[in-house]
Amino acid sequence: MRALTWQGKRDVRLETVPDPKIEEPTDAIIRVTSSGLCGSDLHLYEVLTPFMTPGDILGHEPMGIVEEVGAAVPDLQAGDRVVVPFQIACGNCWMCLTGLPTQCETTQVSAEGMGAALFGYTRLYGAVPGAQAEYLRVPQAQYGPTKVPEGPSDDRFLYLSDVLPTAWQAVAYAGVPKGGSVAVLGLGPIGDMACRVARAQGAGRVFGVDLVPERLRRAEQRGVETFDLRSFDDEKELVTAIRDRTDGRGPDAVIDAVGTEAHGSAAARMVQNASALLPRKLSGPMAERFSVDRLAALHTAIELVRRGGTISVTGVYGGMADPMPMLTLFDKQIQMHMGQANVRRWSDEIIPYLTDEDPLGVDDFATHHVPLTEAPHAYDMFQKKQDGAVKVVFRP
Ligand SMILES: NC(=O)c1ccc[n+]([C@@H]2O[C@H](COP(=O)([O-])OP(=O)(O)OC[C@H]3O[C@@H](n4cnc5c(N)ncnc54)[C@H](O)[C@@H]3O)[C@@H](O)[C@H]2O)c1
Ligand SMILES: [Zn+2]
Ligand SMILES: [Zn+2]
Repeated sequence: MRALTWQGKRDVRLETVPDPKIEEPTDAIIRVTSSGLCGSDLHLYEVLTPFMTPGDILGHEPMGIVEEVGAAVPDLQAGDRVVVPFQIACGNCWMCLTGLPTQCETTQVSAEGMGAALFGYTRLYGAVPGAQAEYLRVPQAQYGPTKVPEGPSDDRFLYLSDVLPTAWQAVAYAGVPKGGSVAVLGLGPIGDMACRVARAQGAGRVFGVDLVPERLRRAEQRGVETFDLRSFDDEKELVTAIRDRTDGRGPDAVIDAVGTEAHGSAAARMVQNASALLPRKLSGPMAERFSVDRLAALHTAIELVRRGGTISVTGVYGGMADPMPMLTLFDKQIQMHMGQANVRRWSDEIIPYLTDEDPLGVDDFATHHVPLTEAPHAYDMFQKKQDGAVKVVFRP
């Protein structure tokens, strides 16, 4: 089959690789009909290269048609239309039963000291072949895949793989009081969807911050009060502008939907670039143990949130020794809640929103649908935020 493989920093290629096969009775094979490109893939494209191996198949946002199932997957059969979570979880261990499939005790990558295995996401997460491919082996298929009805286009359901549960969890973890306020930093697919979910769940005011004009406009069109980072001289000015709209206090909650590649962290960018160039044996430990995250967005969140408020961190971070302003965190009595999205924990709550009325605007959420042959260009375009690219969907 054809699959998109990682070959090196900013180097992804479509290659012919062996077709996946059923290996365990709990496996299924799906023919991928749509597969999302995510901000998380951009981390692999550049700054997380130390954890990648040339030839790794990328992608973790698939949906498709079941081709074949193992003997222990009673609820699926060939021909079913399914969407598959980005994490691999058993659904039956203590963690899964607690609603934390990201920490699944059956699939935890214990050799690396990490949580549940993920599709296409570095050796830290199990080096599982990813979903930007024609076919995908789905481990733990007795739990992960959700069957969806025939009829609407793939885009109606595709985002159940990642964007929707991630945005949903971001808002749930933000704990916005009914009628309260939330600021979303970053208006990529995740931040944009988090704004939509916050509004749908009754937030009174939603503020959105980014520096890409099309992304700001998209959010504005859906009632978000937007702030263009480029129009402020420094963080203090931005914080003041948002505080001014919240009785001087700051929003009840702030969602960080930016993560480790934040704009405005010059020194950390140098370290990230340097560590991506080191030999693999050195750069992995360096990325894990030192402060290599670009923390600008997180620091803004800490300044911005009101005293006693909540920060929900959904952007991905990877450093082990990032400096945090503990004085401010403690003095302002801030709560933080973070992590990968527990996909199946939220899907049943989200599905009722995926109707013809389309309250979350999933049907036209994607800005680009492209074949896998155009994936190398699509990565470049999405990274540089060119051509209005917000959400790219591959149609293998
Ligand atoms: N927790 C999870 O389960 C989960 C799932 C999916 C994605 N993510 C992470 O969420 C983050 C966002 O994903 P995405 O697909 O929307 O990616 P993206 O890269 O398209 O979006 C990030 C946005 O942040 C903006 N930005 C950069 N610096 C900023 C700053 N200082 N202040 C405000 N905005 C800034 C960028 O212009 C961009 O629009 C990524 O870190 C991704 O890895 C987490
Ligand atoms: Zn994703
Ligand atoms: Zn489990």
